[in-house]
Amino acid sequence: MKHSTKVGIIGAGPAGLTLALLLQRKGIDCTILENRSRQYVESRVRAGLLEQNTVDLIRELGASERLDKEGLEHHGVYLSFNGVRQRVPFKELTGGRCITIYGQQEVVKDLIQANLDRGIEIVFEAHAKHIEGIETDNPSIFYQHNGEEHELTCDFVAGCDGYHGIGRQHLPKETYNEFRIEYPFSWLGILANVAPSSDELIYAYHERGFALHSLRSETVSRLYIQVDNDDTVDNWSDEKIWEELSIRLGTEGWNLQSGPIFEKSITPMRSFMIDNMQHGRLFLAGDAAHIVPPTGGKGLNLAVADIRFLASALTNWYENQDDSLLQSYSQDCLRRIWRAQDFSNFMTYLFHKQAPHGSFENLLQKSKFDYIGISKAQATTIAENYVGLKEI
Ligand code: APR
Ligand code: PHB
Repeated sequence: MKHSTKVGIIGAGPAGLTLALLLQRKGIDCTILENRSRQYVESRVRAGLLEQNTVDLIRELGASERLDKEGLEHHGVYLSFNGVRQRVPFKELTGGRCITIYGQQEVVKDLIQANLDRGIEIVFEAHAKHIEGIETDNPSIFYQHNGEEHELTCDFVAGCDGYHGIGRQHLPKETYNEFRIEYPFSWLGILANVAPSSDELIYAYHERGFALHSLRSETVSRLYIQVDNDDTVDNWSDEKIWEELSIRLGTEGWNLQSGPIFEKSITPMRSFMIDNMQHGRLFLAGDAAHIVPPTGGKGLNLAVADIRFLASALTNWYENQDDSLLQSYSQDCLRRIWRAQDFSNFMTYLFHKQAPHGSFENLLQKSKFDYIGISKAQATTIAENYVGLKEI
């Protein structure tokens, strides 16, 4: 079966859903093809830290009703090193910017609803198989849906299909360099029915490994601990997880509250990127082009930042027949991506155990941590990267 649209979007994650809403506002038709069911994408548990820029965009798109009610604004973050805790205040260091805690699956639910309310077509359980003609004016996406073969012809293809998608596979290999770090540790993440023990996030280095205290609501906490790459959730009883979290996050005069755990999973940590995100009529955005370790909370925010550039570039092409922003798309995105890669890598090395306690590398980690407390310049560097730079 043949179909046509202006922009064919592969993937209904934060990137694809945001792109469709921005294009629809400008009267540019698009169709989203999504491999999984609606129920699956709406319940996929991921991180939940939104930069100010991301919140601003969701508001601008008129999809922030629930986010405005349920999102938790944070004006600072706690950093801990072997039980010594300090706070980095965002507001005074960044001219009033802050972050908002709101689960990614909630963002996805809200964006799907907004897309459907505005008549944007999302084809769920549509498996994109290959893309043809990206060097012509009418590329096509071939996909399978309900056991049938379909072809979607469009002006542009947006590969918003995540790290394992097909978008990146269609970029000619000679057009980009690839960079990759696989870290020698993973995160065991839990969701638990217990009130958060802290009003702000706590990132902790401990000689037993990293831990992070985050939250989702007044009654649900989200926590993580560093585990080995070959570890499995079966090795971690609820008691053992709480005990370990309590040790790693602990500081004098503070107690971690425990409660029933209802989600447990292990995620590997990697940095990945390519230094070109486009070829002909194919443009990549989000996880399809870059992965950051979650220590900086940047994944979703980078995806949305790419989309701002892509939507402006496509709009400029349709409205003014001007392709200059399309030409500079990769370069425009890469400035922010490299910054986020550096910050995520910095936070990862600062807070994870990778060298023996008391070794040279470990004492450098401690010195870096102490420096945040004595230098406003260093605290500002962390704060402005954490809330997300406005300028790039
Ligand atoms: N055909 C159709 N859809 C596909 C295909 C395919 N061949 N391959 C992948 N997809 C879909 C996936 O099922 C997924 O829903 O593309 C979507 C990509 O969404 P995300 O992985 O959420 O990626 P993105 O929108 O770039 O958002 C980045 O997600 O992974 C997190 O931490 C990351 O928060 C960041 C955010
Ligand atoms: C989360 O709340 O899931 C979260 C918060 C901050 C991070 C990573 C994950 O850096």
